[in-house]
Amino acid sequence: MNYIVMMPAAGSGQRMGAGFNKLFLMLGNKPILIHTLEVFENDLACVEILLAVKQEEQSEIQAALNQYGITKVTRLVDGGSERQYSVAACIEAYDGDDIVLVHDAARPFIQQAVIKDLVSTAAKYGASIAGVQAKDTMKLAPLGIVEKTVDRETLWIIQTPQAFQIEVLRKASNQAKEDGFLGTDESMLVERLGYPVRIVQSTYDNVKMTTQEDIVFGEILLKRQRESKLKEDEI
Ligand code: C5P
Repeated sequence: MNYIVMMPAAGSGQRMGAGFNKLFLMLGNKPILIHTLEVFENDLACVEILLAVKQEEQSEIQAALNQYGITKVTRLVDGGSERQYSVAACIEAYDGDDIVLVHDAARPFIQQAVIKDLVSTAAKYGASIAGVQAKDTMKLAPLGIVEKTVDRETLWIIQTPQAFQIEVLRKASNQAKEDGFLGTDESMLVERLGYPVRIVQSTYDNVKMTTQEDIVFGEILLKRQRESKLKEDEI
């Protein structure tokens, strides 16, 4: 089933401490942003990508798209001061009716199988989000003192992509804007309108490149990917 991608890429990545947008950092021989875009460039079901970028980075990003042969980015949308506003700008710029996948440009290791599952679940039920189960023991301790141990079987660590029928996402985004509500992901905006959101099992390697340690982990994942591709090619 076809889908489009709304990809926020307008952050500053302060926690990375690079002094510039972390999406330009190299992972292997390509910028993080290009690795993430290539996942969708290589997926036949992805028909279009709307990329939210900072105005002052537009030309640099356009040059990178040309250099690496990324053809599916149809629009560079002006990003906002918060991630939610960057996604909202993409929603405003879109007038089609395909399933929408919102995906952080900083997560280059998302797998095709998870994307497929997300798209079909959202098409059927309205909203679906990628997540993995908590592995560690989880405690609720709002003031640093344990109130209780939470049953980890019931807890999910949520990632992107998050997939939606466009009417659901548009309604949630408009309502959040009207209420001045700022969430940490699009699912929160949809949940607060009472829509059910289904979780799709993702993988632990779909990490967001946030700090220097993530880059180290990312290099290892990339090496592993290359090795398994080499093995596949040998067969
Ligand atoms: O900062 P963080 O990694 O959590 O941001 C997640 C994604 O949202 C990144 O791809 C980043 O570029 C994007 N973002 C954005 N607009 C902002 C802040 C973040 O598009 N104002």
